[in-house]
Amino acid sequence: MKAVNGVHHIGIAVDDLDASIPVYAALFGSTLEHRDTVEEQGVEAASLAAGISRIELLAPLAPDTPVGRFLASRGPGLHHVAFEVADVALELDRLRRDGVRLIDERPRRGLFGLQVAFVHPEATGGVLAEFVSDDRH
Ligand code: CO
Repeated sequence: MKAVNGVHHIGIAVDDLDASIPVYAALFGSTLEHRDTVEEQGVEAASLAAGISRIELLAPLAPDTPVGRFLASRGPGLHHVAFEVADVALELDRLRRDGVRLIDERPRRGLFGLQVAFVHPEATGGVLAEFVSDDRH
């Protein structure tokens, strides 16, 4: 059974989005695909294409936001790994049946208008995991 198509992106928490985009471009030759601010999630994000892979840089809009609290406790760095799936709801049902701890019980609209859901890091050995479906490519 094929559950995921592959890694869709790596999410990295940064203090300063404007400063980080050119750093990643210089280091890895990545190019800016999309940029998005989601007020209700308190985050500003940039999607960078890096070869066949993608990096999602996340900066908090305020300290009292999920990414702001992450930066305060862990500092900048790896925030989550996103796996591309055909159907987020189907994968959530599969994990729920297996008793896996989820953050999102149903798919929701994430960054860049994509359907996403997060799996609790307790279930994955400490890595926040995201399911995403992306029919743009
Ligand atoms: Co993500």
